[in-house]
Amino acid sequence: MADILQIQRPATGAAADLAITEATIRATELRQFDIDGEPLATYDPGFMNTAVCHSSITYIDGEAGVLEYRGYPIDELAEHSTYLEVAYLLLNGELPNPTQLAEWESLITTHRMIPDKLKTVLAGFPYDAHPMTILMASTAAFFSFYPDARNFTDPEARALNIARLIAKMPTLAAFAYRKGKAKPYINPDDNYGYCHNFLAMLFKQAERRYSADPRLIRAMEVLFILHADHEQNCSTNAVRSVASSGNDLYTCASAGIGALHGPLHGGANEAVLKMLREIGTVDRVPEFIEGVKSGRTRMMGFGHRVYKNYDPRAKIIKRSVEDVFEVTGVNPLLEVAKELEKYGLEDEYFVKRRLYPNVDFYSGLIYEALGFPPEMFTVLFAVPRTSGWCAQYQEFITDPDNKIARPKQIYTGHRTRGYVPMEERG
Ligand code: CMC
Repeated sequence: MADILQIQRPATGAAADLAITEATIRATELRQFDIDGEPLATYDPGFMNTAVCHSSITYIDGEAGVLEYRGYPIDELAEHSTYLEVAYLLLNGELPNPTQLAEWESLITTHRMIPDKLKTVLAGFPYDAHPMTILMASTAAFFSFYPDARNFTDPEARALNIARLIAKMPTLAAFAYRKGKAKPYINPDDNYGYCHNFLAMLFKQAERRYSADPRLIRAMEVLFILHADHEQNCSTNAVRSVASSGNDLYTCASAGIGALHGPLHGGANEAVLKMLREIGTVDRVPEFIEGVKSGRTRMMGFGHRVYKNYDPRAKIIKRSVEDVFEVTGVNPLLEVAKELEKYGLEDEYFVKRRLYPNVDFYSGLIYEALGFPPEMFTVLFAVPRTSGWCAQYQEFITDPDNKIARPKQIYTGHRTRGYVPMEERG
């Protein structure tokens, strides 16, 4: 028997059977109900209960705290994979075999340089420009260098521009960082892998070869894997929405970077460190918690729209914190973070609302230990999320159901009024 939802409006006797498929009803079917001359619609600010696409990239069970990329559990990928392997998986649906991985790595290595003229764009920013602003503007500027990105329905052109963007993002991020420090840019080094090369472009000084502790390179790989995709979050939604009007990959990724920058999304990692610094010591945690409970402030790095359980990424990052601190020495703010978490997991305010640490709660501590200033933290989210945005962009472009994003509104303003001349406006 077909699964249906019977709905009726007793006031008029109108009734309809709506088909239930994939645990959803089609919102447009509600239009058959005429409500005083208006077709019935749903009101759903923030898409709290609205599916906007079919996707086979990332699976989340927020109740159980499960995250999988293409069916592979995140903890297994974090333990065994490299970031580029995961990027390949997100884009192609399968883990690469050795030949495919070697070809993919070589393609990315080939495209790491950014156009020389883009450096003059970078030079135009004020010395204290936020690196996320530089990243957002320069990513959009890529389209003027690679106009073939407009041919996004051509699989070859699309794949080339996806490889370009994933390859160039660390270079752009490192240049944005070094510009703020007034340090000369370090070009990509073909001898290094993706994360090692990124660290070298960021931190290399006068030494001939940049060598990083392998534990730190691995920590970076793990952080990149954990941040690679997260289904229909705010920035991915921005990418898909901007793609829906027929835009190239660079314009869409730039929109994603803008959305990610907000403190309720990727900007939370920067906000967490600011919060930890303001609290400063463990004895000041109870006072801070009182401020959260009275609504004066939020506990940044806590709570999630989808996870009503411990964010699986936060669990893995918490373990990485210990590994990184073995190399760099312990950051005293770790104790403040652990005390906050203790309150968060026991206090009724957080328990009742099912607020748990999210991916941003501990990541800032690692970034700081690696030597990054807080304004770089969200950049370190944007670089690996690029592969997720590319996979979601590709899925959107090839989805026969795709439509230009155009939500409805409930109009609450005035209706047709007579124009009031200036001299009569009081
Ligand atoms: N601290 C204190 N109270 C909170 C917090 C928090 N971090 N998060 C939610 N609440 C309360 C909120 O005040 C509300 O309480 P009440 O029911 O009494 O009004 C209730 O919990 C539900 O919150 P909401 O804002 O309606 O939930 P949402 O799903 O719209 O927002 C969120 C999700 C992530 C924006 C929110 O939890 C938040 O602002 N967290 C802090 C910022 C943060 O860490 N963001 C990173 C998210 S993970 C990285 C990513 O993927 O972007």
